[in-house]
Formats: sequence, structure tokens, C-alpha cells
Amino acid sequence: MKILAIETSCDETAIAIIEGTEDIHNPRFSVLSNLVLSQVALHAQYGGVFPSLAKREHAKNLIPLLKQALEESNLLQPKNTLESTTYNLQLILEHEPELLKQFEDFIPTIETPDIDLIAVTNGPGLEPALWVGVNFAKALSSTWGKPVMPVNHMEGHIFSALLKKSQKDAEKNEGSTAPTTYNLQPITFPILALLISGGHTELVLSKDWFTYEIVGQTRDDAVGEAFDKVARMLDLPYPGGPQISKLAEEVRISENKTDGFVFPRPMMHSGDFNFSFSGLKTAVLYALKKIETLTPEIKKTVAYAFEEAVTEVLVKKTVAAAEDCGVHAIVVGGGVSANKRIRESLSDKLQDESLFIAPINLTGDNALMIAAAGYLRYLHKLPTIDIKALTANGNMRLGGNKNMVQ
Ligand code: KG4
Ligand code: ZN
Repeated sequence: MKILAIETSCDETAIAIIEGTEDIHNPRFSVLSNLVLSQVALHAQYGGVFPSLAKREHAKNLIPLLKQALEESNLLQPKNTLESTTYNLQLILEHEPELLKQFEDFIPTIETPDIDLIAVTNGPGLEPALWVGVNFAKALSSTWGKPVMPVNHMEGHIFSALLKKSQKDAEKNEGSTAPTTYNLQPITFPILALLISGGHTELVLSKDWFTYEIVGQTRDDAVGEAFDKVARMLDLPYPGGPQISKLAEEVRISENKTDGFVFPRPMMHSGDFNFSFSGLKTAVLYALKKIETLTPEIKKTVAYAFEEAVTEVLVKKTVAAAEDCGVHAIVVGGGVSANKRIRESLSDKLQDESLFIAPINLTGDNALMIAAAGYLRYLHKLPTIDIKALTANGNMRLGGNKNMVQ
């Protein structure tokens, strides 16, 4: 079965098409196409994501990305005879005039592609951005008569951590054009997910498929947000996480490493599994105020000390929550899980067989993880949604009824 997935929750417009087996005991799929168009360069001038700009860019980019994804998947077939369309798209795409125009120009010129399901992120994220993807899914569904499976973006991050390239793919020769195949690694519930991104810092307990309970979360800034804000104080470009990580690594590998700064480890002994990063950010700000000139050396030592503080808190709380909840596995996903220091520190503290960290190429936002979540929901026979009832919800949280996307 084939799934088309759409992801527009933040500043990445992403479309993926996968072909999965029907085997619930050994879920695996080939990636026919996996496209991510990042708007990072556009948003960099604002030092963060600007929602109305993100919405406009998604509306502009979805049709070209769909076209490319269908082409790459060998699913693009031009129509010989152009019938006049009777779809009522104006209503569905009334808030996305640019997308409506491109939709009406392109979709009637192609045959209905051989896909079985449309998976779309309907929250959480920037609501105007989410709506573009949701309305696009609705328009495609009503035109092609395909069912829609709504997917929680954070569930996508959880499943991205469980994806592993098949052995023969790992050995594949360079230049091979055969599609990449992913297996879902077998897990035994309960599991604990550490989700760390620009918008979220959460510890989520899952006792069964699609059942979630948030056992810890940030009280203020998300960890990625803290990375980005500290990077800004250090005059580093957006997004700051990778920049801080790079500088910190230079200190870590240098021979005459001196700590220079030591920042607080907030909420380390709070007795719960919550986080707080705003105080840490303020501590960096005060430390920098005492400094006359921000030299490259000081930038590096601040980046290092900040990353050490963040890593220690994240890892200690995750290990403590895992012990407390008695889980069999820990899964780690979201943009910040690309961080080398955090990955290494988690690997040091946890057994290899119980730790699943997202492959680096799937840590950031992408539609492949949404396709994977949609695929598993399909295999577990969870219901699709009537598009009239489908909405986007920027504040959607994991947890709640198994049959609902919450
Ligand atoms: O999951 P993601 O791509 O988007 C959201 O849903 O937020 O996460 C983006 C966040 C940004 O804050 C970025 O600075 C951070 O992930 N990030 C990193 C690294 N790579 C990306 N933070 C620390 N170290 C990294 N290597
Ligand atoms: Zn994300």
C-alpha cells in the first residue's frame, strides 16, 4: 500500500511517498520520495520563524513538491483528455488563493495516482502553517477520493526514532537508485520518548500503541528555543542549535580545555520530570553582560558550558523518568536530537539495546515520519477521518483517546 504524507507544521514544507507491506508483525516500507523544502534562510532575517511567511511559502511550494514527489515515485501520469472539473475546491482552499490556482492548473492534468492513503500533520505547530497542509490534504482527498489519516507531529518524531534502514540498504553501493527501505525496530511497551525540538521538550510515556501520557515537560522555553536564543546572544545565525554544537565541539576536542564558565542545571533536583531553560538562558545573558568584548574564544567557551548544562539536565531527567516508569526502551526524536553531545551522553548512560535515537537525517521536521506514523495507524486499523471533521490544532498534545489524534 502507498501513502502520500504532507507536513507543514513549522518552517519546512515536506512531502513523502512510501510503499509499505501489509505485515503488522514486521512493518517495513520503501521510500519512493522524501522531499523537504526548508524556509530557514527566509526566516533567518527575523531570527526565528515568522508564521504568516511560513504559511505563504507552504502555499507556494506544495504543488511543485507534490509534482516532484509523484515523478520520483513513478506515479505521475498525464491525463490524455481534459475533462472539466466539478470539484468544489474554492471552499476548501478559500484561504490559500495561490495554492488554489496552482491546484486547478495542475491536478486536472494528471491521472489519479495509485496511492491508498493521505497522511497529514494536523498539530501541534504554527496554526496558520498547519492549515495549509490540512486544506491541501482535504482538496486532494476530495478530488482523488482517497482517505485521510491525521497525524500528530510529535507522534511522527517518536516513530522517526524507531526507523532503521534495512541491512541491504546500509550495504548499498553508492550510486544505486533502488529505493531505501526502513524497518520499524521491534519494541516492547512501555516505552519513554524524549522529544526535543524548537517548540517542545517533553518526556512521554507510552504503554501501548498510540497511547501517550506526558510525564514531564518544560515550564518555559523549549530546549531548541534556548539553543536558538543563546546563539543569538553570541551573534550566531538562526537556527542556533547546530552553531552552538559546532563551537562546543571545538572546545571539547581541544587539548587545553578550560571550563571558563559553569552555568546552572535548572530543576535538576526538582523531584519531578519537568524542565526549565529560561533561567539557564538568563544566566548566560548575565555572564555575557560582564564581558567587555565577545571574542571568538569566549563564544566557544560559553557555547560549551551551555551545551554541557543542557545535556546534563536532559540526560539525568530522562534516565530518572525511565527508571521510575519501568520502561523497556527510550526513544529520542526532534530537531535537537541531532546534537552530538546529547546523543553521545545518552548512549553512555543507557544500554544500546534499549536506546533508539532518530537517524540524523530524520531528526528535523520531515514528511517521512508522518508517513511512517500514518502507515502504523493504518496497520493497526485506526480509522481515517471524514475531511469535513478535519481541523488543524496548533496546541494539540499527545495523550487521550487511542482512536483520536489529540
Ligand atoms: O524538530 P525541529 O526541526 O523543528 C521543530 O519542530 O521545532 O527542531 C528545530 C530545533 C531548532 O531550535 C534548532 O536549533 C535545533 O532544533 N537543533 C539543534 C541541533 N540541530 C537542530 N539543537 C542543538 N544541536 C543541534 N545539532
Ligand atoms: Zn518537529
